[in-house]
Formats: sequence, C-alpha cells, structure tokens
Amino acid sequence: MASSNPCAAEIAAAIARALGPDVRADDLKVDAPPRPELGDFAIGMFSVAKALRQPPAAIAARVAAELRPAGVIAGAEAAGPFVNVRIDRGWAFRWVLDAATGADDRHLVPQLGVGKVICIDYSSPNISKHLAYHHIRSTMLGHSLVKLNQALGYQVVRINHVGDWGTTHGMLLSAFTRWGAEAAYQPLDVSALNALYVRFRAEMKTDDSLEPEARNWFKRLEAGDPDVRARWQQFRDISMAEFDRAYVSLGVGFDDAGGESFYEDKMPEIVEQLDARGLLTESDGATVVQLPDEKTPLLIKTTDGTSLYATRDLAAALHRHRQYGFERSLYVVDRGQALHFRQLFKALRLMGFEWADRCEHVPFGLVRFGGKKTSTRGASGSFLLEDVFQEARDQVRSILAEASRDMSEAQLEQTARIVGVGAVVFANVLPQRDKDIDFDWDKVLSLSGDSGPYLQYTVARCWAIHRKAGQPVDPPSDAIDWSLLSHDAEWAVARRILDFGDHVVRAATSSEPHIVAHYLLDLAGDFSRWYTLGNGDPALRVICDDPALRAARLALVRVVRFTLTNGLALLGLGAPELM
Ligand code: ARG
Repeated sequence: MASSNPCAAEIAAAIARALGPDVRADDLKVDAPPRPELGDFAIGMFSVAKALRQPPAAIAARVAAELRPAGVIAGAEAAGPFVNVRIDRGWAFRWVLDAATGADDRHLVPQLGVGKVICIDYSSPNISKHLAYHHIRSTMLGHSLVKLNQALGYQVVRINHVGDWGTTHGMLLSAFTRWGAEAAYQPLDVSALNALYVRFRAEMKTDDSLEPEARNWFKRLEAGDPDVRARWQQFRDISMAEFDRAYVSLGVGFDDAGGESFYEDKMPEIVEQLDARGLLTESDGATVVQLPDEKTPLLIKTTDGTSLYATRDLAAALHRHRQYGFERSLYVVDRGQALHFRQLFKALRLMGFEWADRCEHVPFGLVRFGGKKTSTRGASGSFLLEDVFQEARDQVRSILAEASRDMSEAQLEQTARIVGVGAVVFANVLPQRDKDIDFDWDKVLSLSGDSGPYLQYTVARCWAIHRKAGQPVDPPSDAIDWSLLSHDAEWAVARRILDFGDHVVRAATSSEPHIVAHYLLDLAGDFSRWYTLGNGDPALRVICDDPALRAARLALVRVVRFTLTNGLALLGLGAPELM
C-alpha cells in the first residue's frame, strides 16, 4: 500500500516519474534513513531493480541526478542502493497546517473509505443485566473503531446486537411471575431483574419443575402471546434505559439496536437455506451444522425447536450483508467467544456466502480491577459503569480543585466529567486489544504518565498558550514564514504530525486503537520537548519577541492542538480547553 505520509507519497511519485512508465509510486518504499544526517527519507531501489534489470546502485545514482528541488523535495543524493532525500520543511509545515485545519479540502487522514460501508457490532449487552465490564470495553473499543473508520471516509453502520432473546428470557418471565411482587424487587430496575434471574438459577438447582416452566414461558414469548410480549418489552425498556445512560456518558450512539429479537422472523429462512444445502444434522435431538476441523458442531435448534444465539447470528450476518453491502463486518466481542465466531463464519462459508471472509471477530482481553478478574455473569461480577465514572470524576475533581483554583464550580464539574470519563476510556484503548488490562487508578488518572488526562492536559496547555499570546485571528498558512521554524525540536513535531494519517490507517485496518493512543503520547512528548526548551532559552519560547517567528510557532502549536484533539476524539475522549 502507498504511504499515507504526504511527503513520502510525493517523493514516491516524483521518483516514479523519474524512472519512467515501468515503475509505479506504490512499488517504492519510503523510509526514515538510519541516521538523520543522511536526510529526511531514504528510498531503497531493490524492489524496482528487477523490473528495470539494472543494479540498485545504478538506479539510485540516476534518480538522484534527475530529481530536481521542487515541491516537497529540497535535494537528493545516492548512497549505494538508496536515494536519500532532504525535504523542504516549509512545504511540510504548510501542509500540516492546511490539512489539520481542513484548508483546500486537505485531510490529515487519507480518504480511503469513501463510498464503502463497514458494519461494526459492539457493546451488545444482555438485557436484565448490568453492563458487564467486557461489554464496556467492547463499547469503548467499538466506538473508537467507528470513529477511526469514519475518519477514513467509510460509512459506518453502528450495531448494538442486544441480547434480548433466548431461553434466559423465559427464566426471567418465570421468575417475575413467581416473585416479582415481593418488596425486594421494587422498584423493578436492572438490579431487581438481575436479582430475580440469579434467584431463579439458584432455585433451579433444587427444583426440577423450574426449567421446563422457563422453557414454556419462552415458547409463549416466541409464539407472540401479547401479555408475555408486553412483559418482555418492559424488561427490555428498563434495561435499555440503563444502557443509554452509559452511552450518553461515553458519547456513543447506534444506527441499529434491534437486538437479537429483531431476527426472530428471519431465522426460518436460515434454517431452510441450511436444510436445502443438506447442512443440517441431528445430534442428541438438537439440530446442528457439522463444521470442517471443529470438534463441536454449531447449534441451530434445541430439542424443543427453539432457536439459539448462533441461529440469530447467522440471520443477522445475512441481513447485514443484504441491507448494507458491507466491505467489512466487525464483531467487537471478548475473546471468550472466539469459538462461536469462528464457527459462525465457517457456517456462512458452507452456506455459499463468499462474503463470510469479510466478517471478522475483533476479540479483546479481560479487565481486572485491583487484581480481581471481572466475571461475565451474575451480580457480583458486573461492574457498574456509573460507579467507575463517578469514582474517576471524584478523583479528578479533587486533583483539579487543588491545581486550578480559578475554575468556576460549573467548569470544575464539566472538566471533571470529561477528564474522568476520558481517563477510563483511555485506559481501555491504550493496551493492545488482546492484552488483559489491570485497572490501576493512580496510573489511569496520572497527569504525567501514559494517561488520558496527560493528553488532555497537553491540549489545555496549547489553548493556554494561545490565550496568553492573545492573537485575535489565526493567520492562514501562506501568511506564515515557515522557514523561520529551523529548530530540530520544531521539525520533530511536524514530522510526527505527517505520520498521523498512517497511524489512523493502520489502527483502522488492524482494528487496534492502541496504535493511535501510543501515537498521541509520542506527539505529546515531542511537543513537550519542544515547548520546554523555552524554559531554558527565551529565544526558543513560543511567545517570543519576533512577531513573524511567534506567528509561525503559534501556528505549529495550533496544529498540535488540532491533531491531539482530533486524535483523542478518534479514541472517544473529549478535550477541555481549560484544565
Ligand atoms: N450479547 C452477547 C454477550 O453478551 C454479545 C453479542 C455480540 N454480538 C454478536 N453478534 N454475537 O455475550
């Protein structure tokens, strides 16, 4: 794939032009040279040597002689099989400001996804239970993947495949009918629903009549009994209202939240198609699909004919393909379900759907709080997101109240919310996706370590510089003398920003938001190294005496602010102006 770094892309294009029609820009790999003295970029001629039937060093010499300083290129030299290119930094500085501010319809991020659709299934909690921590991590990772792909121009369909169907809902109906009127379950909220469910499971162990009773309730639900349906709907509404509170805190929304129940009338078609292809077999009275290289089959129908999780997922996959014609269909679900998704995609392939190869399970690791693993089921294992946020907010609030005494009460409240939520979200997206996370409050909230608040603080610092400079209007890029930015620390910042698009592409393609999270920490580090130079040397201060130099430096601060703010948004974090 061609580089998304605009300088690298321009250089590759210029070299390809110099080499003639047998070479395409995409064939050239533009890298950083081993030592900075050698230039800004190094391009090896190995890959094109075969096509041109010439030794790489000869080609490098020819290219170096032909490349004229123009556009981004300031000069070129051959070094063995490499061409080392020095770039016009002014060109690059101007480019990043234009792209960061969207001038001339430039983008920091290449628009690779325009006209294409990606489905992302994330969050997808089960009704009548609190959001378990793995749903929360799914929500945060999924939200970031939505933003990353949207930044590339994709149309993203955000899907919440809520678990609102299946035999557990029969248990809940049964439990409610038996004990729902008891004082312990008033008011009927998610905690009460969950307690009813937990009690039912416990009593099932000693009372054999409960299981068939629950199955019977689910049959009535499936048959469309209006009273049973209304009761189920009530449970669903109560649950969705609680989930929505968490979604509002996170700024998350969905385009399709029909949930598993939506596929109720779409399952017969799946069963017919499986049957028509001769894929259905019987196993202990249940209807299953045997899959190549799998020890266990995929369950399609239970002994008494009710549908299953996998049946609904088959119907959902087909529906998504028909409805949206996706290029990719992602499932952001904890790695405990790896087998389910592997089997699901295999079954789709057996059904003859070539697009099954475009379905991807995006698994992630567990979350621990203070060394304790959070379990997936049951009251004890669920973490209330609101409690986590409340804790983060309270801690941030006391740190802020101490540090910034000039904040009003309302500002303090609002900032604590953005930073508290941001701290939690960042801790979820910073580690590699499949790694387990240990949630350590001190690290999560730290203002100096690898934390969300540290990045947010860096943005606030950029705002503070602009406030202090009091520059009433931001000058456009061609009103700035970029050649004045001659310090390596300034160039390090711009160079990092040139790489932003590449990181977004990589994060989106591999569904790894942590690539952008680490990138932003690096950028904040570069910025801080540059900015703190001014502490030792007044000539290096952003707000220096020379007005032209000051304007150029302020413009670079602006680019940093834009990039960090946009980057944080791609991860699902806000960035307050004051901290
Ligand atoms: N509700 C499921 C659970 O909590 C997750 C659903 C994930 N999405 C899907 N299409 N299966 O385990």
